[in-house]
Amino acid sequence: MENIKAALLGAGTVGTGVIRVFAENGAIIAARAHAAVTMKTVLVRDVSKPRPELNGFNVTDSIEDILRDDEISIVVELMGGINPAYDYMRRALMAKKHVVTANKDVVAEYGRELVALAEKNGVRFMFEASVGGGIPIILPLKVSLSANRITEIIGIVNGTTNYMLTKMHETRADFASVLKEAQDLGYAEADPTADVDGLDAARKAAILASLAFGTHVSLKDVHVTGIRGIKPLDIEYAKELGYVIKLLAVGRDCREEKGVEVSVHPTFLPKTHPLAAVNGVFNAIFIRGNAVGEAMFYGQGAGSLPTASAVTADIIEVAKGIADGFTVPSGSVYVTDKKICPIDDTVSGYYVRLLVDDKPGVLGAIATAFGNSQVSLKSVMQTKREVPGKAEIVAVTHSVSHKSISTALDKLKSLSVVDEIKNVIRVEDG
Ligand code: NAP
Ligand code: HSE
Repeated sequence: MENIKAALLGAGTVGTGVIRVFAENGAIIAARAHAAVTMKTVLVRDVSKPRPELNGFNVTDSIEDILRDDEISIVVELMGGINPAYDYMRRALMAKKHVVTANKDVVAEYGRELVALAEKNGVRFMFEASVGGGIPIILPLKVSLSANRITEIIGIVNGTTNYMLTKMHETRADFASVLKEAQDLGYAEADPTADVDGLDAARKAAILASLAFGTHVSLKDVHVTGIRGIKPLDIEYAKELGYVIKLLAVGRDCREEKGVEVSVHPTFLPKTHPLAAVNGVFNAIFIRGNAVGEAMFYGQGAGSLPTASAVTADIIEVAKGIADGFTVPSGSVYVTDKKICPIDDTVSGYYVRLLVDDKPGVLGAIATAFGNSQVSLKSVMQTKREVPGKAEIVAVTHSVSHKSISTALDKLKSLSVVDEIKNVIRVEDG
């Protein structure tokens, strides 16, 4: 049996998870890889830190020890961040070493370049763990669903925000207190910006949409809104109207397949939608294909062992490829450059919450502002607020273009009876 040597860049949450999976499942891994796979060297930032879990490994803080080692044929990058991770992966591929990574930052930004570099050097660049942690989704998009024209891919791909929104639904707590709870439980980072402002989900949306639609979507193409603006009152209205609020990463083909739209935004999702039942830190990705119909992939989107499960599967795939010949491609099997559809063309329902004067004729003025902007209303609800003389109006629209809703909001702002547009959230009804 061939003995294949690998190196780990990073021995943190996921890196130590990979070491554990190899320790516990070594025999299964060898049988499935058709080769013995050994972690020879581990790169860390601080070699002086005591690390009992790395006893028996070569531990180094120099990437050169790995790049110059001809015995090492697989480099597993689990450091995170753009640099030096991107630089190390590029250099590993140029040194004709296969690369496996969980790094969504690098894959979203440089994935296309690294796939091409891998192909040029006759090696593989694998990134199953970059989206959805332990959930198999990259391989299904590259291989299992390749017979389909995918028209829609919708994911709950950030565990931290899904945990926070779930808590807000269950307890009526506000954003600040559920964020603190998520931080105390170790779900949200000390700097939670990438999670709560939707950037982590946007990177994953770019990766998913690139594979699903066979094109290249980068982070700057994704329209992003995070969850900071969601108030307990919005959650109450959502429940009353038969919805839950979820942070969704959405990719759709638009303009009859000639373009794609990719966005991340909080969404009113009908309670009956399969994604509405995905709660806590769990992730799920829902796909609509013209042959498969609807399919959903569900599981743990983060964590040491779930993420290590996906990383190790990529290592096995690469090792099997070295032993027997490759079958799984690095990137999408079919790539054409598609246009990114302008936000104004995108179509959705909207929830609009307004604080207004509580007097006769207000509802009529508001309905006229929507109607004159070609926005048709599905439902309207009026409630009295504690503020004397004020009422709150909640309108849910039918599907309209972003351009039409923007025009309607401008008209509403100009009405003297409208004090404030409190919130505008997309509604996923189709
Ligand atoms: P982590 O716990 O912060 O571990 C990072 C490791 O990389 C540490 O061992 C660190 O060394 C090492 N490292 C960082 N910068 C380095 C540098 N410049 N030179 C050498 N070593 C360096 O990170 P993680 O949570 O395991 O995440 C790793 C990757 O997996 C990231 O791309 C992340 O986005 C992705 N991911 C994580 C999860 C998750 O649940 N954690 C889920 C999906 C994907 P020291 O130990 O010396 O500091
Ligand atoms: N911060 C991410 C999340 C980790 O909360 O889902 C997994 O990528």
